[in-house]
Amino acid sequence: MAISRLIIEHFRNLTAVDLEFDHGFNFLVGNNGSGKTSLLEALFYLAHGRSFKSAVANRIISYDKPHFTLHGKIQEQQHHWSVGLQKPRQGNTQIKINGEDAAKLSELAQLLPMQVITPEGLTLLNGGPSYRRAFLDWGLFHHHNTFYSAWSNLNRLLKQRNSALQQVRSYAELKIWDVELVKTAYQVSQWRAAYAEALRPDIEQTCKLFLPELEISLGFYQGWDKQTDYADLLQQNFERDRALGYTFSGPQKADFRFKANGLPVEDVLSRGQLKLLMCSLRLAQGEHLMQQKNRHCIFLIDDFASELDQYKRALLAERLQQNGSQVFVTAITQDQLKQMQPENHRTFSVENGNIRLL
Ligand SMILES: Nc1ncnc2c1ncn2[C@@H]1O[C@H](COP(=O)(O)OP(=O)(O)OP(=O)(O)O)[C@@H](O)[C@H]1O
Ligand SMILES: [Mg+2]
Repeated sequence: MAISRLIIEHFRNLTAVDLEFDHGFNFLVGNNGSGKTSLLEALFYLAHGRSFKSAVANRIISYDKPHFTLHGKIQEQQHHWSVGLQKPRQGNTQIKINGEDAAKLSELAQLLPMQVITPEGLTLLNGGPSYRRAFLDWGLFHHHNTFYSAWSNLNRLLKQRNSALQQVRSYAELKIWDVELVKTAYQVSQWRAAYAEALRPDIEQTCKLFLPELEISLGFYQGWDKQTDYADLLQQNFERDRALGYTFSGPQKADFRFKANGLPVEDVLSRGQLKLLMCSLRLAQGEHLMQQKNRHCIFLIDDFASELDQYKRALLAERLQQNGSQVFVTAITQDQLKQMQPENHRTFSVENGNIRLL
C-alpha cells in the first residue's frame, strides 16, 4: 500500500502541490512554518476525511479560498485506486474513489491504513483512556469487517440509554433497551481483549528492541470488573447512572494500560522513552496488520529528530525499511536524517508552501 502521487490545492499554505512519492521513504525538509506538517496532514486527510490536528475543517482551507482539494493515486501490488476529496467552506466533504462517490468515510480509512507518529501523539501514553481505546479500535477496524458497525451501534445504544436515563422512573422501563447494549458491549469487549492479547508478543518484542532497559507490561481493562455480569451491573448501577445522567461503567471506559517495571509509564518514563514506547506501539500494530492481513501501513512521522538519540533514529529507520512500508518523515535539516539511509528514498525541500524534489 503506497500513495504514489498527491495533488493538493488550497490546503493550509500548500496552494498548489503535485508530488510523486517513493514507495519507500519520503523526507520532507524545511524551516518552521514551511508546510511540512501540513503535507502529512493532507495525506492523513486523504485517508480519513478528517485532520489529526484541527477539528474544524474550515481552518484547514487556505485563508481566502472557498475549498481545498486533494487527489491521490494509490497502489497496492497490481491494484490502483484514485481518490479525490474536496471540502468546501459550506457543506459536506465530497469523496470519490475511482470516480465514484464514496458513501462513507470508513471506505477511505479501509483503503489506506495509516500510523501517525508525532510529538502530540504522546497522548497515547499520557492522555486519557480514549486515546488507547482508539488505538485498539484502529486495529479491530482493520482486522474485522464487522467491527465498525458493532462499534457504531455501541455508541448509538449508549447515547440512547443516556438520554433514556433522564426520562424513566424505574429500571423496569430501561431494561428492555439494555438487552441489545449488553450483547454489543460483550462483542466489542471480547474483540478488544483478543486483539490486545494477539498484539502483546509483537509489542513486547518491539519494546525489547527500543527500550531494552525496561520491562514493559500491558493490561487490558474492559471497562467493568471481569467477574461481574454486565447486565447485572447495569441494573445495580441504575440509581447512580440516573443521578449522573450517563452510564458509568462499560466498554466506553475500556483502557489498555502500560507499565514499566511495574509502574505506570506516564509517571516514570522520560519524554524520549515515552516517545520510543509510542513508536514501538505504532510499529508493532502496523507490523501485526501486515503479518495477519498482508496489508502495509503508511507511516507519517512528524518532527522525527526531536528527543530521539542517533542510535534510536537509526533503529527506527531500519525497522521501517525492513517491513517495506511507505514512510513520510519531516525534519528541519537534512543533517537530522543522516542516520536514515534507506535504499529507496526521495527528499523534498519545503519552502513557504512550495515543495520540490531535491
Ligand atoms: N488555513 C490556512 N491557510 C494558509 N496558511 C495556513 C493555514 N493554516 C495554517 N497556515 C500556515 O501554514 C504554515 C505551515 O505550517 P506547518 O505546520 O505545516 O509548518 P511546519 O513546516 O510543519 O513547521 P514546524 O517545523 O514549525 O513544525 C504555517 O506558516 C501556518 O501559519
Ligand atoms: Mg510541523
